[in-house]
Amino acid sequence: MPYENIYIQKVAEHPSIWSDEAKMFAQKGKWRELCSWMNNEKWIMKNEKEASFIYPKLMLEIGTGMGNFLSNYVENHPDTACVGIELKYKRLIRTYEKCARKGREDVILLKVFGQKIPEIFAPGEIDELYLLFSDPWPKKWHHKNRVIQDDFLRDAASVLAPGGIFLIKTDEASYALWIEEHLARCPYFTYEKNDNEEPDKKLSPETATEFEIMGRREGSKIVSFFCRKKK
Ligand SMILES: C[S@@+](CC[C@H](N)C(=O)[O-])C[C@H]1O[C@@H](n2cnc3c(N)ncnc32)[C@H](O)[C@@H]1O
Repeated sequence: MPYENIYIQKVAEHPSIWSDEAKMFAQKGKWRELCSWMNNEKWIMKNEKEASFIYPKLMLEIGTGMGNFLSNYVENHPDTACVGIELKYKRLIRTYEKCARKGREDVILLKVFGQKIPEIFAPGEIDELYLLFSDPWPKKWHHKNRVIQDDFLRDAASVLAPGGIFLIKTDEASYALWIEEHLARCPYFTYEKNDNEEPDKKLSPETATEFEIMGRREGSKIVSFFCRKKK
């Protein structure tokens, strides 16, 4: 019997997980409004009153994996509209479920390559961007598949607001070097590198993701780059 991925259908039917790129592109510049509207809808249904809450900030995580980071983040940042990007069906479903369990059904997840951000988000639309333990592609002939490239850094800077945050983490030494080389020649960000074994406390103590936990368990060195878009 051929293997059937039950999550394909679940993603297709899920109102908050989008695979249609045309729909994503049409939302460009209006993500905060969409998340605020979804939050208000839930609030009105519960309270039977008018609600007019507008999120002041927008964050994006690329490569949510199973959703540990995003679900912790949404719980601790009730003032921030959240969008996640992921390629795998089951991981998308798990991420949404974890966020919803924290009371944040207004998270939107996109099944799309993270490299498409300039088509999905307007210039300056995002306040915080997270790329945590993205696939390191350690073999030289696969380096072209790494998310961090000169063009990606330019695109990430374009969708971030001036002063916006971009956090990158990896536990793969050759990828850490690659990221640093790219950041060093990138004119759009200032950055601080942290390769202490201590968890990075700069943003929030809950940033440990599934892959970070695994990496630490295996004794890998975690390297983070806390980048800020130049004003
Ligand atoms: C190594 S896992 C890390 C997951 C999670 N961030 C963590 O730290 O536990 C990388 C994730 O990024 C997703 N991914 C890989 N390439 C991607 C891309 N180009 N755009 C969006 N997601 C991608 C994969 O499906 C996978 O779930």
